[in-house]
Amino acid sequence: MNKYILIVLISLSVLSLVASESATADCKTHPVFDKAKNLLNVIFTQDKRAKHINKVLQKRFQERSPKSISDNDLGFCSGFSGQKTCCDKELVKLIDQAALLKVKPILQTKSAFSKLINVYVSQLNRNCSATVIPSPPIVPKAIHTDKSLKILSQFKLAQGNCKINFAKALSAFTRGSLCSVCMGVDKLSNYINAQGQLKITQQSVNIFQQAADNAIKCFADIFTPSNLDSILNELNAAYIKNNDSCAASVAKNVKSIFSNPKITNDDGQGGKICKGTSLFSDNSLCEQSLLGDSSLEFTNPRFLSFENESLDRLLVEKLDAIIDPSGVNIFVSSPKDQIIDESGKNITFSFILKNSQSKLAFAALIAFISLII
Ligand SMILES: *[C@@H]1O[C@H](CO)[C@@H](O)[C@H](O)[C@H]1NC(C)=O
Ligand SMILES: *[C@@H]1O[C@H](CO)[C@@H](O)[C@H](O)[C@H]1NC(C)=O
Ligand SMILES: *[C@@H]1O[C@H](CO)[C@@H](O)[C@H](O)[C@H]1NC(C)=O
Ligand SMILES: *[C@@H]1O[C@H](CO)[C@@H](O)[C@H](O)[C@H]1NC(C)=O
Repeated sequence: MNKYILIVLISLSVLSLVASESATADCKTHPVFDKAKNLLNVIFTQDKRAKHINKVLQKRFQERSPKSISDNDLGFCSGFSGQKTCCDKELVKLIDQAALLKVKPILQTKSAFSKLINVYVSQLNRNCSATVIPSPPIVPKAIHTDKSLKILSQFKLAQGNCKINFAKALSAFTRGSLCSVCMGVDKLSNYINAQGQLKITQQSVNIFQQAADNAIKCFADIFTPSNLDSILNELNAAYIKNNDSCAASVAKNVKSIFSNPKITNDDGQGGKICKGTSLFSDNSLCEQSLLGDSSLEFTNPRFLSFENESLDRLLVEKLDAIIDPSGVNIFVSSPKDQIIDESGKNITFSFILKNSQSKLAFAALIAFISLII
C-alpha cells in the first residue's frame, strides 16, 4: 500500500515538474527574442518584402511550441543542437540574410579612401590654375577608374580587401548574435545570468576583436605618410602639367588633412571600439571605423535607418552580454559571406517563404477535386 502511495506521489511530482517546465517553455516569452527582434527590424527596415517576411517569421517563432529540430535545419546556429528551440529552418535562413544585409550599408558608404580622392580633387581645383590641370576638371570617379594609375590601383585593391574583411567580421558577429535567439527554452539558465545578460564566450569575442583589429589596421596602413607620398606623386604627375609649386601645395594640403585620419579600433581608454560585447544595441561607432575622422570630408552619415528616430532609440549602446566559459559563440561565419565584395552590390534579399496558407488552400483544392471525381 505504502509503496503505491509513494509511486503516486513520485508520479505526481514528476508530472508537476513537467508542467512547470512547460509553463516556462514558451516561445512568446523567449528572453532573447525581444532583443533580436529589434535588431532584425532595424536591418530589414528598407526593403518592403524583407520587412513583411521578417514580420511573418517573427510571428511564427512566437507561436511555435519549442522542440528539438535537426542540425541540418539549425544550420550555422547548430550550437543549440538538441535543445528545445523556437527557431525553424526559415528563421535561420533569415538570420543569414540579416547578417549580410547589415553590412551592405557599411560597404556602400564612402570610406576614408574615397574621401582621400575627393579631397585630392578639391585641392587640385583650388590650388592650381586652370591652365595646368585637365579641362574639363577631373572628377573623383575618373580617378577611381583610371587604369594608368598603377600605384593608386594597388592601394585601391588593398583597401578594398581590408574593407571586405571588416564586413565579413561584422557579418559573422551579427549572425552569431542573432543565432542566440535559437537557444532552447529548456536551456535558458545555461546562457542567461540573473541580470538577464547573455553569456558569451571569451574565445568568440577574441576572434571578433582580432578580425576587426586586423581589418581596421590593414585599412589604416594605407594612409601612412610614405604611402600618401607615393599616391600623391603619381596623381600629381598624371594631372598637373609643368607646375611644381601647385603640385607641392596640393600634396602638402592633402597630407595635412590626412595626418591623423583616426582610423582605429582603440577607444582611447584602453578598450576596443569594436568590443564584441554589445550584441543587440547600437554598434555604429565600430561600424564607422573605416570612415575615419568626420572632419576629413563633410560629416559622417549614420548607418542603418538612423534617420528613423523611433528605430534609433531601440539600439542604444549598452552592454547586453557578459563573458562566461559556458556562453554562446558570437562569431559565426557562413559560406554566404563569400558574396561580400567591396561594393556590396551582390548582397540582396532573396527569400521564398513557405506559405502554409497556400498549402492549405492547395490541400482543400485537391480534396475538392477528389470529391468531384
Ligand atoms: C590652396 O588651397 C588652400 C585651400 O583653399 C588655400 O588655403 C591655399 O592658399 C591654396 N594655396 C595655393 C598656393 O594656392
Ligand atoms: C603654377 O601654380 C601657381 C599656383 O596655382 C600659380 O600661381 C602659377 O601661376 C602657376 N604657374 C604656371 C606657369 O602656370
Ligand atoms: C520609422 O519607424 C516606425 C516604427 O517602425 C515606422 O512606423 C515609420 O514608418 C518609420 N519611418 C520611416 C521614415 O521609415
Ligand atoms: C557578384 O556577382 C557577379 C555577377 O553575378 C559575379 O560575377 C561576381 O563573382 C560576384 N562577386 C562575388 C564576390 O561573389
